[in-house]
Amino acid sequence: STKMDLPPRPTLFDFHGVSMVKYFTDNWDNVQSFKARPDDILIATYPKAGTTWVSYILDLLYFDDTISDCRSSVPLQERVPFLEISAPHRPKGKDLADQLPTAPRLIKTHLPVQFVPKSFWEQRSKIVYVARNAKDTAVSYFHFGRMNHVHPETGDWSCFLQNFIKGNMVFGSWYQHVNAWWDKKQTYSNIHYMFYEDLIQDSGREIDRLCSFLGLSPTTEQKEHVRAKATFDNMKQNKITNFSTLPLMNQSVSSFYRKGAVGDWKNHFTVAQNEQFDEDYKSKMKNPGLCFRTEI
Ligand code: A3P
Repeated sequence: STKMDLPPRPTLFDFHGVSMVKYFTDNWDNVQSFKARPDDILIATYPKAGTTWVSYILDLLYFDDTISDCRSSVPLQERVPFLEISAPHRPKGKDLADQLPTAPRLIKTHLPVQFVPKSFWEQRSKIVYVARNAKDTAVSYFHFGRMNHVHPETGDWSCFLQNFIKGNMVFGSWYQHVNAWWDKKQTYSNIHYMFYEDLIQDSGREIDRLCSFLGLSPTTEQKEHVRAKATFDNMKQNKITNFSTLPLMNQSVSSFYRKGAVGDWKNHFTVAQNEQFDEDYKSKMKNPGLCFRTEI
């Protein structure tokens, strides 16, 4: 693919109180009227929380890709459609979701909780929410924005970090996203809220927890197979999961599978940035039940 195929970098605008870009709002009415099913599983995250990792784990748990040959070449972004995406020259996520032949359907979204199509709540679909600590999320999002043309220009790191703190990001404020989804869990019991740091620390245990939430009972061997297929190195090599076919991502700028670690923020934040960040963080993160680890 040539540079000419790339869409223009979008600009942020206020959309019902949340910063967005048109590539995630252009199909809004169709997305809002999406017809969820009771057995749908929605994977919801703020960008860069480990969406792809958890999507692949769920795909492997339900549809082990070594079993069905006709499925084995379908890339993850088609197995687990991105509900709200509407990018030039690409199928709309909502249409891919409508056309999914599988049951359950696995569907990805970055929408803040107040924007989730209402039929997911009405149908009582299961939702897996993945959260990652703010500092590593900011670093990962910065490198992602540099290489992904459906995102605005990032500016330099210090400029990007100030925008992250202010919530001037695509899909809005990290602080509001993780808190509002956490609050939703208190009234909607079909949410499994998990953390990237826990996955890094013990992915086997997190797969066990996922299975008990989903009502799955794979054998020990099956779970080990899933865990081993979904490692950082394997996913980076695997054409199904590495987005190598997506021209929107210029992975010569930064690989999608960049570091896959907890604590890389220490290589980006200056001491002054860290102090400012922590001070602001305290004022926004008052829920004692919601705790993030920035190192393990
Ligand atoms: P880094 O940029 O810190 O490396 P998302 O899928 O939500 O966009 O998140 C992408 C982040 O998850 C990237 O973080 C990526 O490297 C990391 N990631 C993806 N698969 C992973 C895996 N199997 N193990 C660890 N980290 C993974």
